Amino acid sequence: MNTKEIKISYEEYLSLDQLSEEDKTLLAKATETTKKAYAPYSGFCVGAAILLDNGEIICGSNQENAAYPSGLCAERVAMFAAASQYPDVAMKTIAITAHTDKFEIDIPVSPCGSCRQVMAEYEHKQQKHIKIILKGASGKILIINGIENLLPFVFNADNLK
Ligand code: THU
Repeated sequence: MNTKEIKISYEEYLSLDQLSEEDKTLLAKATETTKKAYAPYSGFCVGAAILLDNGEIICGSNQENAAYPSGLCAERVAMFAAASQYPDVAMKTIAITAHTDKFEIDIPVSPCGSCRQVMAEYEHKQQKHIKIILKGASGKILIINGIENLLPFVFNADNLK
């Protein structure tokens, strides 16, 4: 056996006050966007807000469907909207949070594998790391710089050559 280890890193904050104004504003937008979620089946309302390099903020919420797999996560709604409206502008930061009436979400919302893969695609396209901010309804906030810290052994266009 030849076990190897890889290191991933992230920042942890216990309060919003510890964040920069820019990150706080983006998280506030994500929180506001949870109210626009269409989540009649799960009741889990997610909001994502993306700050682009040109200063624009593009938001998205999860959109569910009676045919469950036809729905889409907030992160991909936001990323696809940003990439369609501003195909040539890099994504600087994405803030993600969630709310549900069913229980207190006190751990940071962690993007699903498909959303991580989509983040990896845009990061690779723009050749610049995306900052990922994760928060629950309460509790600590995580900041992850670059998708490799969220999706080690990433599969991207380099693997196709
Ligand atoms: N969901 C998101 O929108 N983003 C995440 O990071 C986790 C899950 C959505 C999908 C579904 O509408 C609901 O939350 C429950 O899984």
